[in-house]
Amino acid sequence: MPDSADPASLRPTVEQTRAVWENIANWWDQQIGEGNDFQKTLIIPTTDRLLDPKPGQTILDVACGNGNYSRLLGRRGVKVVACDYCENFLEAARRRTSPEDGQIEYRKIDATSMAELLTLGEGRFDAAVCSMAMMDMIVIDPLLDSLRELLKASGRFVFSLPHPCFNSNDMIFRADYVIQNDVAQQVFGVEIRQYLSHVPGLSVGIINQPQPHHFFHRPLSAIFSACFSGGFAVDGLEEPAYPVNAAGSKNPFSWQKRPEIPPAIVIRARPRK
Ligand SMILES: C[S@@+](CC[C@H](N)C(=O)[O-])C[C@H]1O[C@@H](n2cnc3c(N)ncnc32)[C@H](O)[C@@H]1O
Repeated sequence: MPDSADPASLRPTVEQTRAVWENIANWWDQQIGEGNDFQKTLIIPTTDRLLDPKPGQTILDVACGNGNYSRLLGRRGVKVVACDYCENFLEAARRRTSPEDGQIEYRKIDATSMAELLTLGEGRFDAAVCSMAMMDMIVIDPLLDSLRELLKASGRFVFSLPHPCFNSNDMIFRADYVIQNDVAQQVFGVEIRQYLSHVPGLSVGIINQPQPHHFFHRPLSAIFSACFSGGFAVDGLEEPAYPVNAAGSKNPFSWQKRPEIPPAIVIRARPRK
C-alpha cells in the first residue's frame, strides 16, 4: 500500500507535527545530549557501518534533531549539512557545536517538501543519513525523490527507523510466565496488533516525554516501495538489538530485556544506475 493510500483525513498537517517538536525540543535535547544509550548502542555503530563516512566527504544529515550525529561526523573530518524543520532543535544544535566539531552548516528545511530540499544543492552530496526520523514525517516520497537529485551518482542513503515489525506506536511490551522443562520462567516479548495499515498515531520516543509526537507507522513494503520508486536500490540492512545481559536489563519493560528482538532497523539505499 503506497503512502498515498493513507486516509488523508486522519493525517495532521506538517505545521501540527512541527508544533509538537518545537514544544519538546529543549526537553529532548537535555535527554539525548551527545547521544543516549539507544543511539550509542544500536543506531550509531550500525549507521557508521552502513554509511562508512570518510574525511573530506560531504554528507547530509536529514532531520538532525540536536545534531549529535552531525557533530560526530564533523569531528571525523566530514563536511556536514544538517537540516531539520524545528527551530528549537536547530538552536540547540548550534549551541552545542564548537570549532572541534569541524565544518557543519545547519539549515531549516522541511523534509516533506521537495522544493525546500532541492535548495540544498543537486549532485552535492556523497551520502545522506536520516536517523530515527522518517516515521515522524507525514510523507516520505518527497525525501526519497529529492535525495535522488541531491546525491552524487555514487552516493548512498542510510536511514534508521523503529523496526516496524516490532516497535511501532501500537506495540505492547509483554512479560509472561511460561512452563519450560517443568519450570516456570519469565519470558519477555512484544505484542503487535496492527502492522499493515498506515494509521497515523502518536508516540513517545523517550519515557516521560512531556507531549507525544505524531508517528506514521509504515510496513516494510511501504518503506521499500518509497525507495524503489525514488530510484534507489537497497543494498544493506541491519537489525540491531541489545546484547544479552545489557546494562539496564533488569527492567522488564525495556529493550535491553529483549536481546532477540531488534527495536530498530537500519537500511542503506543507493541510486540505481
Ligand atoms: C526522533 S528525532 C531524531 C533526531 C536525530 N536524527 C537524532 O537521531 O537524534 C526526529 C526529528 O525529526 C525531525 N522532523 C520530523 N519531521 C520533519 C520534517 N518534516 N522535516 C524536517 N525534520 C523533521 C524532528 O524535528 C526531530 O528533530
